[in-house]
Amino acid sequence: MGLRIGILTSGGDCAGLNATLRAATLRAAQSGCTLVGIRNGTLGLMSRPPEVEPMDPARCDAQMLRLGGTVLGTTNKGNPFSYPQPDGSFADRTGEIAEACRTLGLDALIGIGGDGSLEILRRIAQQHGLNLVGIPKTIDNDVALTEAAIGHSTAVATATEALDRLQPTAASHSRVMVLEVMGRDAGHIAIASGIAGGADVVLIPEIPWRLAPVVRHIERVRASGRNFALIVAAEAVAGEDGRRVLQDDHEGRRRYGGVGHHVAAAISEATGAETRVTVLGHVQRGGSPDARDRLLGAAFGVHAVELVLAGRFDRMVAWWNRRVVDVPLAKVARRSRTVDPHGPLVATARGLGICLGD
Ligand code: F6P
Repeated sequence: MGLRIGILTSGGDCAGLNATLRAATLRAAQSGCTLVGIRNGTLGLMSRPPEVEPMDPARCDAQMLRLGGTVLGTTNKGNPFSYPQPDGSFADRTGEIAEACRTLGLDALIGIGGDGSLEILRRIAQQHGLNLVGIPKTIDNDVALTEAAIGHSTAVATATEALDRLQPTAASHSRVMVLEVMGRDAGHIAIASGIAGGADVVLIPEIPWRLAPVVRHIERVRASGRNFALIVAAEAVAGEDGRRVLQDDHEGRRRYGGVGHHVAAAISEATGAETRVTVLGHVQRGGSPDARDRLLGAAFGVHAVELVLAGRFDRMVAWWNRRVVDVPLAKVARRSRTVDPHGPLVATARGLGICLGD
């Protein structure tokens, strides 16, 4: 009899999740396995009855490749090890998750998540004896031991397109445009889109910046006869005062957002330039995946099912040196892959004369 495999998406959504679900569904069906879709990440396994839906290969046509978001839903709130209770206390609800996997008769679980979600899923699997395979996804591209995570390429393409659109309006009005991009504590989206979109200045959290070099750079641009400049700021770069710019959401959780306004105000004051700010936000997560994210999703979805078929658990599929490989989940947990200040993208940016603020 074929295996029963659960699959869930966890953490923030991104483009390419449905392409990954599709690939896993098709490969599972091909090998006589049943893939059970779990709704809303681990939340679906805490619900009673568990929230599940069959992953039907007949519904996996080409349309699913193009769909943004995740058809299964996801959550990036509430660690099940200390899950907020209605009375204000916190409870470990991971036992309920394991119990649901057993009730559903799952032989294995495929978790599609970023570093935080994969770490939580691994701890649950280790403590409760579940067979887990991980698939890395995040626009931030900060999961360790993989060169690419699902969603990053599309986010970079979106940020690049934003720069393409900002350039003509910047030139028309002789303005300095600041584009704030996501990425959490990693500057991967900022450096890649900054290079691809022709930015003059790129500020990333991995390289502390000072106002003086940025001002000098903008003055050089003006002296060269150009009337506009494009700046990309990653959301986690510190403001001029060295502090990260954070916002509180309605549940009191802290999240990045707004440093672009600080950067623009400082530049405007120091240079007299007219500045405008675009905070790109969740536009980077939504929309149709580009071809690269579809390919990555296909390769990861297929390989994850093959790991299950081979009984190779506690592993994460990964992209390395133009190949799909797999790595121990233990080596991924608690490690984040930020931009290497001495790596090839930073060297490329410097070679292009882009100012990195140092
Ligand atoms: O991790 C993905 C990400 O989009 C980050 O780049 C960003 O800081 C964060 O999630 C936003 O989270 P939320 O969707 O909760 O606002």
